[in-house]
Amino acid sequence: MALEKKSPCKVNLILNILGRRADGFHELETVMQPVNVCDRLTFERTGAGLLLSCSHAELPTDSKNLVHRAAASFLAAANIADGVRIHLQKNLPLAGGIGGGSANAAVTFTALNELFGAPLSVDKLHELAAALGSDVPFFLYDQPALATGRGEKVRPLENFPALRGKAFFLAHPGFGISTPWSYQNLARFPEALHGQPGRAEKLIALLQGDDLKAAAAETYNSLEAPAFDKFPVLALYQAFLRENGALVTLMSGSGSTTFAITENLAAADTLAEKFKSRFGENGWTATVGA
Ligand code: C5P
Repeated sequence: MALEKKSPCKVNLILNILGRRADGFHELETVMQPVNVCDRLTFERTGAGLLLSCSHAELPTDSKNLVHRAAASFLAAANIADGVRIHLQKNLPLAGGIGGGSANAAVTFTALNELFGAPLSVDKLHELAAALGSDVPFFLYDQPALATGRGEKVRPLENFPALRGKAFFLAHPGFGISTPWSYQNLARFPEALHGQPGRAEKLIALLQGDDLKAAAAETYNSLEAPAFDKFPVLALYQAFLRENGALVTLMSGSGSTTFAITENLAAADTLAEKFKSRFGENGWTATVGA
Protein backbone atom coordinates (compact mmCIF):
# COMPACT_ATOMS: atom_id res chain seq x y z
CA MET A 1 0.00 0.00 0.00
CA ALA A 2 1.25 3.50 -0.84
CA LEU A 3 1.99 5.94 1.97
CA GLU A 4 1.16 9.54 1.12
CA LYS A 5 2.81 12.46 2.95
CA LYS A 6 2.60 16.24 2.83
CA SER A 7 5.96 18.03 2.75
CA PRO A 8 5.51 21.57 4.14
CA CYS A 9 7.86 24.54 3.87
CA LYS A 10 9.23 27.03 6.42
CA VAL A 11 10.06 30.66 6.86
CA ASN A 12 12.85 32.04 9.04
CA LEU A 13 11.44 34.61 11.48
CA ILE A 14 15.05 35.51 12.25
CA LEU A 15 18.23 34.32 10.52
CA ASN A 16 21.11 35.81 12.46
CA ILE A 17 24.53 34.80 11.18
CA LEU A 18 27.29 34.99 13.77
CA GLY A 19 30.39 34.42 11.64
CA ARG A 20 32.22 32.08 9.30
CA ARG A 21 33.60 28.84 10.77
CA ALA A 22 36.87 27.05 10.04
CA ASP A 23 34.93 24.34 8.12
CA GLY A 24 33.52 26.95 5.70
CA PHE A 25 29.96 26.83 7.12
CA HIS A 26 28.50 29.78 9.01
CA GLU A 27 27.51 29.71 12.66
CA LEU A 28 23.97 31.00 13.02
CA GLU A 29 20.88 31.25 15.19
CA THR A 30 17.53 31.04 13.49
CA VAL A 31 13.85 30.68 14.40
CA MET A 32 12.12 28.50 11.86
CA GLN A 33 8.36 28.40 11.47
CA PRO A 34 6.61 25.60 9.53
CA VAL A 35 4.23 26.89 6.85
CA ASN A 36 1.47 24.65 5.55
CA VAL A 37 2.10 25.12 1.82
CA CYS A 38 3.22 21.71 0.66
CA ASP A 39 4.77 19.36 -1.84
CA ARG A 40 3.42 15.79 -1.77
CA LEU A 41 5.30 12.52 -1.70
CA THR A 42 4.10 8.94 -2.07
CA PHE A 43 6.12 5.93 -0.95
CA GLU A 44 5.66 2.27 -1.89
CA ARG A 45 7.72 -0.79 -1.02
CA THR A 46 8.97 -2.77 -3.98
CA GLY A 47 11.14 -5.87 -4.38
CA ALA A 48 14.43 -4.11 -4.92
CA GLY A 49 15.99 -0.86 -6.12
CA LEU A 50 15.23 2.79 -5.56
CA LEU A 51 12.99 4.47 -8.10
CA LEU A 52 12.15 8.18 -7.89
CA SER A 53 9.78 10.05 -10.20
CA CYS A 54 8.95 13.73 -10.04
CA SER A 55 6.28 16.03 -11.47
CA HIS A 56 8.88 18.77 -12.11
CA ALA A 57 10.92 18.24 -15.28
CA GLU A 58 13.87 20.38 -14.09
CA LEU A 59 14.53 18.26 -11.01
CA PRO A 60 16.92 15.32 -11.34
CA THR A 61 15.54 11.96 -10.18
CA ASP A 62 18.91 10.30 -9.51
CA SER A 63 21.30 10.67 -6.57
CA LYS A 64 21.49 14.44 -7.23
CA ASN A 65 17.96 14.67 -5.78
CA LEU A 66 17.83 15.03 -1.97
CA VAL A 67 14.88 12.60 -1.81
CA HIS A 68 16.93 9.94 -3.58
CA ARG A 69 19.89 10.59 -1.28
CA ALA A 70 17.71 10.48 1.84
CA ALA A 71 16.15 7.17 0.75
CA ALA A 72 19.54 5.61 -0.09
CA SER A 73 20.96 6.79 3.23
CA PHE A 74 17.95 5.38 5.13
CA LEU A 75 18.02 1.97 3.41
CA ALA A 76 21.78 1.62 4.02
CA ALA A 77 21.61 2.69 7.69
CA ALA A 78 18.64 0.39 8.39
CA ASN A 79 20.27 -2.44 6.43
CA ILE A 80 17.19 -2.94 4.24
CA ALA A 81 17.56 -4.91 1.02
CA ASP A 82 13.97 -4.27 -0.19
CA GLY A 83 13.38 -1.47 -2.63
CA VAL A 84 11.13 1.55 -2.64
CA ARG A 85 9.29 3.58 -5.25
CA ILE A 86 8.81 7.30 -4.53
CA HIS A 87 6.88 9.98 -6.37
CA LEU A 88 7.42 13.68 -5.65
CA GLN A 89 4.64 16.09 -6.58
CA LYS A 90 6.50 19.43 -6.57
CA ASN A 91 4.35 22.48 -5.86
CA LEU A 92 6.90 24.72 -4.10
CA PRO A 93 9.45 26.81 -6.00
CA LEU A 94 13.06 25.62 -6.26
CA ALA A 95 15.91 27.65 -4.68
CA GLY A 96 13.31 29.66 -2.79
CA GLY A 97 14.76 29.78 0.73
CA ILE A 98 11.67 28.06 2.15
CA GLY A 99 13.30 24.65 2.59
CA GLY A 100 11.29 22.71 0.01
CA GLY A 101 14.07 20.26 -0.87
CA SER A 102 15.15 19.90 2.77
CA ALA A 103 11.58 19.11 3.80
CA ASN A 104 11.27 16.53 1.00
CA ALA A 105 14.36 14.78 2.40
CA ALA A 106 13.11 14.89 6.01
CA VAL A 107 9.69 13.54 5.01
CA THR A 108 11.45 10.72 3.14
CA PHE A 109 13.27 9.74 6.34
CA THR A 110 10.13 9.72 8.50
CA ALA A 111 7.96 8.03 5.86
CA LEU A 112 10.44 5.23 5.18
CA ASN A 113 10.89 4.68 8.90
CA GLU A 114 7.10 4.28 9.14
CA LEU A 115 6.90 2.07 6.04
CA PHE A 116 9.60 -0.33 7.30
CA GLY A 117 8.41 -0.63 10.94
CA ALA A 118 10.56 2.04 12.65
CA PRO A 119 14.03 0.45 12.43
CA LEU A 120 15.79 3.76 13.21
CA SER A 121 15.55 6.01 16.28
CA VAL A 122 14.71 9.72 16.02
CA ASP A 123 18.33 10.50 17.01
CA LYS A 124 19.62 8.34 14.15
CA LEU A 125 17.23 10.01 11.68
CA HIS A 126 18.46 13.39 12.94
CA GLU A 127 22.08 12.36 12.34
CA LEU A 128 21.33 11.14 8.79
CA ALA A 129 19.29 14.29 8.10
CA ALA A 130 22.09 16.62 9.26
CA ALA A 131 24.51 14.85 6.90
CA LEU A 132 22.24 15.76 3.96
CA GLY A 133 21.81 19.47 4.69
CA SER A 134 21.76 22.02 7.51
CA ASP A 135 17.97 22.60 7.31
CA VAL A 136 16.90 18.95 6.98
CA PRO A 137 16.72 18.03 10.73
CA PHE A 138 14.27 20.88 11.46
CA PHE A 139 11.65 19.26 9.22
CA LEU A 140 11.70 16.00 11.22
CA TYR A 141 9.76 17.69 14.02
CA ASP A 142 6.84 19.59 12.41
CA GLN A 143 7.04 22.35 15.02
CA PRO A 144 8.53 25.84 15.25
CA ALA A 145 12.14 25.62 16.41
CA LEU A 146 15.27 27.44 17.38
CA ALA A 147 18.13 26.13 15.23
CA THR A 148 21.78 26.82 15.97
CA GLY A 149 25.21 25.59 14.88
CA ARG A 150 25.06 25.53 11.08
CA GLY A 151 21.28 25.07 11.47
CA GLU A 152 21.34 21.37 12.34
CA LYS A 153 20.97 21.74 16.14
CA VAL A 154 17.22 21.94 16.62
CA ARG A 155 15.25 22.89 19.73
CA PRO A 156 11.53 22.37 18.94
CA LEU A 157 9.20 24.97 20.48
CA GLU A 158 5.49 25.23 21.24
CA ASN A 159 3.38 27.10 18.65
CA PHE A 160 3.89 30.84 19.09
CA PRO A 161 0.89 32.66 20.69
CA ALA A 162 1.79 35.84 18.73
CA LEU A 163 0.97 33.99 15.47
CA ARG A 164 -2.44 32.68 16.58
CA GLY A 165 -5.08 33.51 13.95
CA LYS A 166 -2.50 35.19 11.71
CA ALA A 167 -1.69 34.21 8.12
CA PHE A 168 1.25 34.03 5.73
CA PHE A 169 1.64 35.43 2.26
CA LEU A 170 4.60 34.01 0.31
CA ALA A 171 5.97 35.55 -2.90
CA HIS A 172 8.66 33.99 -5.07
CA PRO A 173 9.91 36.39 -7.76
CA GLY A 174 10.39 33.76 -10.48
CA PHE A 175 14.16 33.57 -10.03
CA GLY A 176 16.02 31.57 -7.39
CA ILE A 177 19.04 32.47 -5.26
CA SER A 178 21.76 29.88 -4.72
CA THR A 179 22.48 29.30 -1.02
CA PRO A 180 26.28 28.96 -1.48
CA TRP A 181 26.24 32.24 -3.47
CA SER A 182 24.43 34.02 -0.60
CA TYR A 183 26.87 32.87 2.03
CA GLN A 184 29.92 33.64 -0.11
CA ASN A 185 28.68 37.15 -0.81
CA LEU A 186 27.90 37.83 2.83
CA ALA A 187 31.67 38.36 3.17
CA ARG A 188 31.15 41.77 1.48
CA PHE A 189 28.85 42.85 4.34
CA PRO A 190 30.89 42.52 7.57
CA GLU A 191 28.12 43.80 9.83
CA ALA A 192 25.65 41.23 8.51
CA LEU A 193 28.31 38.50 8.69
CA HIS A 194 28.98 39.14 12.39
CA GLY A 195 25.56 39.28 14.08
CA GLN A 196 25.17 39.73 17.84
CA PRO A 197 24.25 36.41 19.51
CA GLY A 198 21.07 36.35 21.61
CA ARG A 199 18.72 38.00 19.13
CA ALA A 200 16.88 34.75 18.33
CA GLU A 201 16.12 34.10 22.03
CA LYS A 202 14.87 37.68 22.36
CA LEU A 203 12.52 37.17 19.40
CA ILE A 204 11.27 33.85 20.81
CA ALA A 205 10.37 35.54 24.12
CA LEU A 206 8.32 38.13 22.19
CA LEU A 207 6.61 35.51 20.00
CA GLN A 208 5.58 33.71 23.18
CA GLY A 209 3.62 36.84 24.09
CA ASP A 210 0.62 38.03 22.09
CA ASP A 211 1.98 41.24 20.54
CA LEU A 212 3.15 40.42 17.02
CA LYS A 213 3.96 44.09 16.34
CA ALA A 214 6.51 44.08 19.19
CA ALA A 215 8.00 40.84 17.83
CA ALA A 216 8.06 42.27 14.29
CA ALA A 217 10.73 44.80 15.29
CA GLU A 218 13.07 41.91 16.17
CA THR A 219 12.68 39.90 12.95
CA TYR A 220 15.85 40.02 10.85
CA ASN A 221 17.69 38.17 8.09
CA SER A 222 21.47 38.63 7.63
CA LEU A 223 21.26 37.21 4.10
CA GLU A 224 19.10 40.12 2.91
CA ALA A 225 22.32 42.16 2.60
CA PRO A 226 23.76 40.29 -0.41
CA ALA A 227 20.30 39.48 -1.83
CA PHE A 228 19.04 43.11 -1.86
CA ASP A 229 22.36 44.26 -3.32
CA LYS A 230 21.93 41.99 -6.35
CA PHE A 231 18.12 41.94 -6.55
CA PRO A 232 16.73 45.33 -5.38
CA VAL A 233 13.23 44.24 -6.40
CA LEU A 234 13.15 42.17 -3.21
CA ALA A 235 13.46 45.37 -1.13
CA LEU A 236 10.64 46.90 -3.20
CA TYR A 237 8.45 43.88 -2.42
CA GLN A 238 8.90 44.49 1.31
CA ALA A 239 8.22 48.23 1.10
CA PHE A 240 5.02 47.50 -0.84
CA LEU A 241 3.88 44.77 1.57
CA ARG A 242 4.52 46.98 4.59
CA GLU A 243 2.60 49.89 3.02
CA ASN A 244 -0.30 47.53 2.36
CA GLY A 245 -0.78 46.21 5.86
CA ALA A 246 1.78 43.43 6.43
CA LEU A 247 2.59 43.17 10.15
CA VAL A 248 5.92 41.48 9.36
CA THR A 249 7.78 41.14 6.08
CA LEU A 250 11.15 39.53 5.52
CA MET A 251 13.09 37.42 3.06
CA SER A 252 13.11 33.73 4.04
CA GLY A 253 16.42 31.85 4.34
CA SER A 254 18.83 32.64 1.53
CA GLY A 255 15.91 33.83 -0.64
CA SER A 256 14.46 34.46 -3.02
CA THR A 257 11.05 34.07 -1.34
CA THR A 258 9.66 37.08 0.54
CA PHE A 259 7.00 36.45 3.17
CA ALA A 260 4.53 38.64 4.98
CA ILE A 261 2.46 37.95 8.08
CA THR A 262 -1.03 39.43 8.17
CA GLU A 263 -3.79 39.80 10.75
CA ASN A 264 -5.82 36.93 9.24
CA LEU A 265 -6.24 34.85 6.07
CA ALA A 266 -8.64 37.34 4.41
CA ALA A 267 -5.98 40.06 4.81
CA ALA A 268 -3.35 37.75 3.28
CA ASP A 269 -5.63 37.08 0.28
CA THR A 270 -6.24 40.81 -0.20
CA LEU A 271 -2.49 41.46 0.05
CA ALA A 272 -1.84 38.73 -2.55
CA GLU A 273 -4.26 40.36 -5.01
CA LYS A 274 -2.67 43.81 -4.53
CA PHE A 275 0.82 42.32 -4.85
CA LYS A 276 -0.04 40.58 -8.13
CA SER A 277 -1.64 43.67 -9.62
CA ARG A 278 1.48 45.69 -8.69
CA PHE A 279 4.24 43.21 -9.63
CA GLY A 280 2.51 40.95 -12.19
CA GLU A 281 1.70 37.25 -12.28
CA ASN A 282 5.13 35.94 -13.34
CA GLY A 283 6.24 34.67 -9.95
CA TRP A 284 4.64 32.24 -7.53
CA THR A 285 2.51 33.26 -4.55
CA ALA A 286 0.62 31.47 -1.80
CA THR A 287 -1.48 32.36 1.22
CA VAL A 288 -2.19 30.14 4.23
CA GLY A 289 -3.27 30.41 7.86
CA ALA A 290 -0.45 30.31 10.45
O1 C5P B 1 23.81 22.57 4.48
P1 C5P B 1 23.36 22.99 3.13
O2 C5P B 1 23.59 21.93 2.08
O3 C5P B 1 21.98 23.53 3.09
O4 C5P B 1 24.28 24.21 2.73
C1 C5P B 1 24.43 24.66 1.41
C2 C5P B 1 25.59 25.65 1.39
O5 C5P B 1 25.25 26.83 2.10
C3 C5P B 1 26.85 25.13 2.06
O6 C5P B 1 27.64 24.43 1.17
C4 C5P B 1 27.51 26.43 2.47
O7 C5P B 1 28.13 27.05 1.38
C5 C5P B 1 26.34 27.31 2.84
N1 C5P B 1 26.01 27.29 4.28
C6 C5P B 1 26.83 27.94 5.17
N2 C5P B 1 26.53 27.96 6.50
C7 C5P B 1 25.41 27.36 6.95
C8 C5P B 1 24.54 26.70 6.05
C9 C5P B 1 24.87 26.68 4.72
O8 C5P B 1 27.87 28.51 4.78
N3 C5P B 1 25.12 27.42 8.24
